[in-house]
Amino acid sequence: MDKILVHGGHSLNGSVRISGSKNSALPILAATLLTREPCTISNVPDLSDIHYMLQILSHLGAQVERASGVVRVEAEKIKTVAPYDIVRKMRASVCVLGPLLGREKEATVSLPGGCVIGDRPIDLHLKGFEALGAVSRIEHGNVKVFAGTLRGTTVNLRGKQGPTVLGTDNVIMAAVLAEGTTIIESAAAEPEVVDLANFLNKMGAKIEGAGSRRIVIEGVKELHGAEHTVIPDRIEAGTFLVAGAMMGGEVTLRRVTHEHLGSVIDAVRLAGYEVETSAGSIRVRGNGAPKPLQLTTEPYPGFPTDMQAQMCALLAQTNGISVISETIFPQRYMHVSELKRMGADISLDGHTAIIKGVEKLSGAPVMASDLRASAALVLAGLRAEGVTEVNRVYHIDRGYESIDEKLNQLGARIERVKA
Ligand code: EPU
Repeated sequence: MDKILVHGGHSLNGSVRISGSKNSALPILAATLLTREPCTISNVPDLSDIHYMLQILSHLGAQVERASGVVRVEAEKIKTVAPYDIVRKMRASVCVLGPLLGREKEATVSLPGGCVIGDRPIDLHLKGFEALGAVSRIEHGNVKVFAGTLRGTTVNLRGKQGPTVLGTDNVIMAAVLAEGTTIIESAAAEPEVVDLANFLNKMGAKIEGAGSRRIVIEGVKELHGAEHTVIPDRIEAGTFLVAGAMMGGEVTLRRVTHEHLGSVIDAVRLAGYEVETSAGSIRVRGNGAPKPLQLTTEPYPGFPTDMQAQMCALLAQTNGISVISETIFPQRYMHVSELKRMGADISLDGHTAIIKGVEKLSGAPVMASDLRASAALVLAGLRAEGVTEVNRVYHIDRGYESIDEKLNQLGARIERVKA
């Protein structure tokens, strides 16, 4: 298994190009199943999660071609059963359920289990499908959904932890070809949901209100092929923003939509760093006297759970006491025990982390446990004294395109050791 060696203490300067959004690209690629005609998607990041999704589309019968960030999918004839071997590798595979149900009126996908960031139920996805008239069954580890006809309805997708992103995507994708009008109340408002709705509208769907808590979908008879460019990855951008803040110099993020990062930029500014935005770019400058923070993760436009681990790495090395509350995935603290091995002073009380900043962490061998936790360990290593050895880096390759190369271009010293 590959590992990453981070040599700490090298300041970051210069500019970095942000890749296309993983969490937009995954449901958008799934949505290409809704038409027989070819679709062309650009700015698709080169990540293992994307490769898994393309494998699923191929297995389902689609013709898939990929060349430098552009993916062409033609799903003239499709099957409706997604294979366990690929699905188990990536939870986001569940987002083929909506398009398969919408087009073929049936779908069978392996049921995603929990994962290190906590329980990952799909009850709200199924609630939406059932409201449209589908029946769902769990059989032999698979979830099967089927319907005679899908009919528009009003459904509230609010769960205990708030709205669901992929659940909203899935119900939109099932409803675009349903008879009549569907209204989703308490919908997720993340930019990735808006990107999916924009793509579907280019395919001929009639969706209004994406980006708000109420989405209205007027069903159409069929969809046609379309071209779309995926939005920049706001979490990759946020990760580089935090890295730039931590490491002193001046870092510019290019090809980024700063409007999608409002709460992250606010937090970095509150921590005492200078952040300037202009069309398509964000510039962050390090500062000698950073301040502790109180943060709560929330659905968009609140502070994203996908940036919580990276903020922990920053605050672990910021004098004073910071408090982070994780409300979306209350157990998403796998990075904490690893940061502690590097000398961090963090205690957990339920879903709250109390972080007493120390001047410097010290490099240590650490274990990546999930995507964002791995990013946090790399960030912590950038500032730590000595070498941080991050093991199981396949987690980071799921969601960051060449993070080691991009950080090295900014002045970091990171080596990837091939197994
Ligand atoms: N939930 C339910 N029932 C459901 C679905 C979700 O109770 O049927 C709960 C979840 O357990 C969680 C909350 O609702 O407590 C929110 O989960 P959500 O459904 O929004 O998560 P998701 O759609 O499965 C996406 C991202 C995650 C990101 C979350 C929250 C993709 C592929 N994944 O997951 O991204 O953390 O939204 O913003 O879009 C990552 O990129 O590292 C990542 C984990």
